[in-house]
Amino acid sequence: MNNGKGMEGMVYDEAVKDVRTPANDVHPVFINRWSSRAFTNEAITKEQIYTLLEAAHYAPSANNFQPWRFVTATTPEEKALFQQFILPRNRVWADQAGAYILIASDTLRADGEPNGNHAFDTGAAWGMLAVQAKLLGLTTRAMGGFERAKAKELLQLAESIVPHIVVAVGVPGDEANLDESFQAVNKPTPRKSLEELVIAVPTN
Ligand SMILES: Cc1cc2nc3c(=O)[nH]c(=O)nc-3n(C[C@H](O)[C@H](O)[C@H](O)COP(=O)(O)O)c2cc1C
Repeated sequence: MNNGKGMEGMVYDEAVKDVRTPANDVHPVFINRWSSRAFTNEAITKEQIYTLLEAAHYAPSANNFQPWRFVTATTPEEKALFQQFILPRNRVWADQAGAYILIASDTLRADGEPNGNHAFDTGAAWGMLAVQAKLLGLTTRAMGGFERAKAKELLQLAESIVPHIVVAVGVPGDEANLDESFQAVNKPTPRKSLEELVIAVPTN
């Protein structure tokens, strides 16, 4: 039952309260995480990034193949390299992020055969990463809007590696500093009801 509090009596963040009203009790971190585009200009250290990767790489994967791969950008030089393949519409806000992580997966298993589960498993790792970031008081926003071929070339990724997203990571910042075109839409998103998502087992 939803009493406005999550498990362990922890309350939901003010920002999500009106738009996210879960019908079942879950840990508040799942409700409180959302992908703000507003960052301060504070740097994110490699140490912080490695805490995120630590969480991500404990995700479950088919046969424990662990197909996820990560490329991190924390220095100005590394970030400038990433900004060459992030699409301009994303750069409007993502240039202010403290760091980037490219999340990719190896499409091949160790024996050279295709791994049909690589994308599913790497998606699970991204979810864990986003939740760990929220637990550290950081904000993340995934970007599918980047040039994949250019990223592969500039980062010299092997043939079997498929880039999925670039994650912008940062310290949550003041929305007033966001480009005006994003201020109105920079809000926690709602979710469909579980009734719309759960497919009933046929009874006939
Ligand atoms: C695979 C993927 C690609 C995305 N690409 C972009 C993007 O290019 N630009 C952007 O601003 N947000 C992007 N997003 C963020 C989503 O729009 C956002 O996660 C979604 O609206 C749900 O909101 P929430 O994360 O705040 O709960 C992407 C998210 C995912 C998972």
